Amino acid sequence: MTEAILLVGGKGTRLRPLTVNTPKPMVPAAGVPFLTHQLARARAAGVEHIVLATSYLAEVFEPYFGDGSALGLHLEYVTEREPLGTGGAIRNVASRLTSGPDEPVLIFNGDILTGLDIGALVDTHRTSGADVSLHLTRVADPRAFGLVPTDPTGRVTAFLEKPQTPEEIVTDQINAGAYVFRRSVIDTIEQGRPVSVERETFPGLLAAGAHLQGMVDSTYWLDLGTPGAFVRGSADLVLGRAPSPAVPGRRGDALVLPTAEVAADAKLTGGTVVGEGAVVGAGARISGSALLEGAVVEAGAVVTDSLIGAGARVGARTALSGVVVGDGATVGADNELRDGVRVWCDASLPAGAVRFSSDQ
Ligand code: GDD
Ligand code: MG
Repeated sequence: MTEAILLVGGKGTRLRPLTVNTPKPMVPAAGVPFLTHQLARARAAGVEHIVLATSYLAEVFEPYFGDGSALGLHLEYVTEREPLGTGGAIRNVASRLTSGPDEPVLIFNGDILTGLDIGALVDTHRTSGADVSLHLTRVADPRAFGLVPTDPTGRVTAFLEKPQTPEEIVTDQINAGAYVFRRSVIDTIEQGRPVSVERETFPGLLAAGAHLQGMVDSTYWLDLGTPGAFVRGSADLVLGRAPSPAVPGRRGDALVLPTAEVAADAKLTGGTVVGEGAVVGAGARISGSALLEGAVVEAGAVVTDSLIGAGARVGARTALSGVVVGDGATVGADNELRDGVRVWCDASLPAGAVRFSSDQ
């Protein structure tokens, strides 16, 4: 049996204001807390025991996921008193692992949506005999990630977290946030202080001559660190572009959860999710967006690539594109909001207050 550690700590505040009291992994993507997709994918790959390493708003995970049996998993929770960083968090849960010293332990960043073949990563690890194996993906702009150049055999030659200078951008291969560690390597991370696996552990292992193996592929991959990416990921789950056994319903243009009310002539496309108790009025057009629980989009509104928070309201004929409306906020009728606008939780924008077009 393979076991896994899921990293769901850190500050996790980048989805604010939408989620003032909700850590990112618990914000619904395609109708269920995002973390559900990662847990279900790991289970489908044969993982049975997962330790959640948490620090930020940790108390919301356990009441929802419990002992994990609903997902066929044995789940444990470990909460850091102060965030220990990625490496510190891994070391901090080592005592919960049951694997022997030479056995593989999977580790996942908690904010990644991916089609990674988890079994193939474990196979790569076994056949290469590596100390640590890393899933790598290629991106157009690698600056926000960990750069991981490899030699022709896939062996990692360096690890450069968040490169600062053009000279450091030596590859478009980045750390995709899924690893297999030989169990005994986890035990070598120093205990009881913050450690970054990316800035300290990986460079240190390389300097000491350890074998780090990369597995690069071109499967679906998205870091859900921004609201825009989160909405994109939710839509891709609904469309079936991002694979997950946990999407509650059939793949298609839209997912309408039970108890939602959608007017007969409203148009839902592009992987839109209408959450429980949400209401979509007559003639509204919603594309590539997520309406959380109890959100209301009134008649004639046009909502594109946007996140509408729990209990939020979008007025009649209002047009939103690339917008986050926080939980409980109201955008009055006949507004036009675009590209990165965030309406704070519980805020209220009067009717006809903001437009981009010049008249009316
Ligand atoms: N328990 C715990 N404690 N978890 C943490 C902590 C901590 O102190 N700090 C971060 N995490 C978790 C986050 O919740 C997230 O799931 C994961 O570790 C990675 O942290 P991020 O803050 O999201 O890092 P990043 O996105 O800037 O960069 C990381 O991911 C990239 C891929 O998306 C790095 O691993 C990069 O190398 C990588 O390319
Ligand atoms: Mg991240």
